[in-house]
Amino acid sequence: MPETLKPMTTTNLPLDFGPLLVAWQRKHGRHELPWQNTQDPYRVWLSEIMLQQTQVTTVLAYYQRFLQRFPTVADLAAASLDEVLAMWQGLGYYSRARNLHRCAVVVAARADGAFPRTAAELAELPGIGRSTAAAIAAFCFGERVAILDGNVKRVLSRLLAFDGDLASSAQEKLLWRHAEALLPTEGITAYTQGLMDLGSSICSTRSPQCLLCPASELCAARAAGEAERYPVRTRKLKRGRRENWWLWLENPAGEVLLQQRPETGVWAGLWTLPLFDDEAALKQATRDLEGEPEVLPRIEHALTHFDWVLHPRRAMLTNGHAAMAEGQWVARERLASYALPAPLKKLLA
Ligand code: ADE
Repeated sequence: MPETLKPMTTTNLPLDFGPLLVAWQRKHGRHELPWQNTQDPYRVWLSEIMLQQTQVTTVLAYYQRFLQRFPTVADLAAASLDEVLAMWQGLGYYSRARNLHRCAVVVAARADGAFPRTAAELAELPGIGRSTAAAIAAFCFGERVAILDGNVKRVLSRLLAFDGDLASSAQEKLLWRHAEALLPTEGITAYTQGLMDLGSSICSTRSPQCLLCPASELCAARAAGEAERYPVRTRKLKRGRRENWWLWLENPAGEVLLQQRPETGVWAGLWTLPLFDDEAALKQATRDLEGEPEVLPRIEHALTHFDWVLHPRRAMLTNGHAAMAEGQWVARERLASYALPAPLKKLLA
């Protein structure tokens, strides 16, 4: 059987990887991020949730502001969801903020008002998946558990030249097992952070910097000269495209009409402009206004599953017109306290 077709067993995993990464992280890894050097699960949890789909540089400012406003999990639990969403605006993926709030409420209601201390129990909480639970347990409680987020899948699948298709849950499970088998016996905090550090810098998706990698000698993908082949993942998101017309309506007091989105679906719970399926519907709704609505440049907004093309139209409600649509009139100065999706915030600015 050729070497590459041999199934990988725990006996042929590069077990030097763990200790090597621990030593590398201690010397060359990141040590000064604001969520490091703490074992407070609230702070670590908050950072891990924010970092799930967002770059470190973006998270930094939000993280500090969030902690100023909500210094403890009890403060966060006591806040309204609207306020949490308002603090989250611009970070995107708002289901994270909703789960964050739900999770805080659950934790604050526990007998000790504190986060559970094992990965298994943490993973039961809203919005905390297996990898995030493991990161919190490793950083805060020193539990020897494996993480496997998107970056780490890339690092480990390269290290092992793991050919399994990660779109298959069986293959993903197998990679989890390898991740567990690779854990070092000592230094779980440095190891976990080291995986994140490697994944976010050296072992990048495109043009990985193998010359700088502490594990290059152990890396099977590198040995085969094909680091960029991994991870293998066949499933492609079929992106759709949606088009809507947005009505920016102002009244004589300079207030803007906002509507709150339903609790589920895109931009759930956020405040947006009245939305129409086509131009005709918007025209119909604004037929009693003087003049034609002003045509503003279209906005293209990429969401996970589709590209959203929005056509903003601006109109003034002159005195004498009754409110023409459901919603809330909001003064410009008060817009900041409403959770607005990023493209709307930009439009109104
Ligand atoms: N991405 C996810 N978790 C992280 C962490 N703790 N530090 C830096 N980047 C991360």
